[in-house]
Amino acid sequence: MSARIIDGKAFAAGVRARVAEHVARLKEQGIVPGLAVVLVGEDPASQVYVRNKGLQTVEAGMNSFEHKLPAETSEADLLALIAQLNADPAVHGILVQLPLPAHLNADLVINAISPVKDVDGFHISNVGLLGTGQKAMVPCTPLGCLMLLRDTLGSLSGLNAVVVGRSNIVGKPMAQLLLGDSCTVTIAHSRTKDLPEVCRRADIVVAAVGRPQMVKGDWIKPGATVIDVGINRIPAPEKGEGKMRLVGDVDFASAVEVAGAITPVPGGVGPMTIACLLANTLTACCRANHLPEPEGLTA
Ligand code: GUN
Repeated sequence: MSARIIDGKAFAAGVRARVAEHVARLKEQGIVPGLAVVLVGEDPASQVYVRNKGLQTVEAGMNSFEHKLPAETSEADLLALIAQLNADPAVHGILVQLPLPAHLNADLVINAISPVKDVDGFHISNVGLLGTGQKAMVPCTPLGCLMLLRDTLGSLSGLNAVVVGRSNIVGKPMAQLLLGDSCTVTIAHSRTKDLPEVCRRADIVVAAVGRPQMVKGDWIKPGATVIDVGINRIPAPEKGEGKMRLVGDVDFASAVEVAGAITPVPGGVGPMTIACLLANTLTACCRANHLPEPEGLTA
C-alpha cells in the first residue's frame, strides 16, 4: 500500500496565512514585526534563499531589512552591524545567512545576535534553553518538521523516533523537540552500527543526514511516518544530458510503499523552513511587546 504524501507546500502556505492574519492584528495596534537578513558575499544559492525570505516576509505584512555586505567584510564591521540591529526596536528578528566566508568565525557572529532576536535559534543561549525545556527560539527546519508530525499523528507521546543526522541545525534540535513531545528518541548518523535495523524500530524517522536516497524502504517499519529533510541534487540522465533533479535523504520510491505517511522532495519539509522563519519573527515580536504568542506556531 502506498503512503499518505504529506503536503508541506500546502501546510507551509497555511502557516504563512496564519502568520499574516496575526501580523494584520498587530498592525491595528501600531506594531509591525521586522526581520533583518544579513548576507555576506555573493554565494548564488544564498542569494536565492535571501531573496525568497525577503519576498515572503513582505507578503506576510512584515518589514524586511536586507543587508548585503561584500565578501571581504571584516569581522569587526559585521559585528558592528549586528550590534546596530540588536539595538533597533523595529527589528524583531535577525538572521545571518550561512555559510559565511571562511575568514569570518560563524560561532562568534551568531552568538553576537541578541538571543531574543535569534530567529534561527542558533545562539548558544537558545540551544541551552531548548535543551532544558525552556522557552527558546527554535531552529526553523526542525520546528517545521515538528508541525508536520503533529499534524499527521496528533500526539507524539510514547512513539519511537529515530533522527538520522546529528547537525546543530537539524539533527540535534529535532531530537530535543521530539523529546519535548515525549517521544523515545534515538540520534543515529552515518556511522551508526546496524543503521537499517535502528530505523526499523522507529514509528517516526527524520532523515537529515545529507546523503542522497540513503534511507531505503526496507529500513522503514510498515506504517511509520517518514520526514525527509534532505535536499540533494543528483544527475538525471532521463531528463537529458547534464540535467539534474532534487532528491531527499530517503529513497522515496521504495519508502512510499512501506511508510504510513511521508514527505516528498521537493514540496515536503523545504517550504516549511521559511514559513517557520516568519512564525519565529512573529513570536519574537510578540515577546518583545509582552503580547500573547501566536498559538500553534511555536514548539
Ligand atoms: N543557510 C542554509 N540554511 C540556513 C538557515 O536555516 N539559516 C541560516 N542563517 N543560514 C542558512
